[in-house]
Amino acid sequence: MVEEKSEISELKPTLGLFDATALSVGAIVGAGIFVITGIAAGLAGPALTVSMLIAAAISMFTALSFAELTAWQPREGSIYEYAYQLISPFAGFLTGWMWMTSNTFAGAAVSLGFANYLCTLFPVLPVNWVAAALCILFTMLNFLGIRQSALLNNVLVAAKLSILGFFVVYGLMYVDASNFAAFNPLQWGVLSGAFYIFFAYGGFARVAVVAEEVKDAKKNVPRAILISLAISTVVYIFVGLVAVGLIGAPRLAASNSPLTEAIGATGNSLAAYTVSAGGLTATASVLLTSILGVSRMAYAMARRKDLPQALKNLHVKYNTPYYSIWIVGTLMALLVLFVDMAKVVAVSTFALLFYYSLANVSALRLNTERVYPRFVPFLGAATCLMLLTFTSLASPQACIAGIAVLAAGAIYYRVKKKLFDAF
Ligand code: ALA
Repeated sequence: MVEEKSEISELKPTLGLFDATALSVGAIVGAGIFVITGIAAGLAGPALTVSMLIAAAISMFTALSFAELTAWQPREGSIYEYAYQLISPFAGFLTGWMWMTSNTFAGAAVSLGFANYLCTLFPVLPVNWVAAALCILFTMLNFLGIRQSALLNNVLVAAKLSILGFFVVYGLMYVDASNFAAFNPLQWGVLSGAFYIFFAYGGFARVAVVAEEVKDAKKNVPRAILISLAISTVVYIFVGLVAVGLIGAPRLAASNSPLTEAIGATGNSLAAYTVSAGGLTATASVLLTSILGVSRMAYAMARRKDLPQALKNLHVKYNTPYYSIWIVGTLMALLVLFVDMAKVVAVSTFALLFYYSLANVSALRLNTERVYPRFVPFLGAATCLMLLTFTSLASPQACIAGIAVLAAGAIYYRVKKKLFDAF
């Protein structure tokens, strides 16, 4: 494997609408539906699907903002570019910085999720080392090119959607209506459940970060964002209904693999193994697109000289930003060796809500080529800030860690600017 530096800095559009949509679905459907469903069910009870609908509605406002911004200017780096141009270069930098933080931590969390599923099937394997090995394997795939990553992603997406489809159709025959007896959508737990299940929708805008690698991006990227969110919402609602119907909310809440537990109620162990395999493919595909996304964000930030120039070099043979890819992959691998899963998820969500809020503010400030009325980004910003406050109250540690990362970014930016201005 010969790595050569290249002066080339142009990425090529190779992904069609199908690949672009699959990329987003790949980024969305993962640990959220396969793991967090249990936590949300514990809070919302049989009204789990109402939490799912609330989280989907909040996601939709932000997704519309992303769609609007991408239709205006499809650029690698997406929200980093928009905040940079529509708010200020400093806001852009912080947005890109928090984007990378959120997705690096999320990537680490899903590889741990994958390792946990695998180690349940093969208990002799060491969880952290399996997760680290997975990070390196997927870094290698990303290094080899976006077509290769997209092809594997398409296979993983097809597998996880088929398995969730199987879960719904097969599970439906064993649903017990009495599990919905205590259905009550008007309770505080439904809102708390929505906060947790919000994690399951994260990733709908991943495709916007690779916009310059999508054909006819002005049309295809916004479509891919909205189609992928619609697909995930429909799938989640059916899965949530069947899961509650199979074993009831309390049993879902007590399990680390709630969907496997739920399908286990059919008494068919092959079905349970199949759903576990769904957990593996789902977390794997989220990891694949996390590495892809963070490396492209680093590329876009280096292109504007906000990060070291080496990060924008493309490999001559594979046309991928290989320094970015290997640094991101190595960081994730290191994180999973020392990580506490719950904290990483919380930091990831804090950073996610930060840059979602700035995405909505950017969409509010867009004056030309507006597609949606301004109340859409306004509601997006308001709901994201509301959830951000909620996260800070629910997990002060994550809030402190998130603010520390933000401060580190701000210091880096100021120092870099001073050095730049001095020469
Ligand atoms: N939405 C992604 C997941 O559920 C982060 O894993």
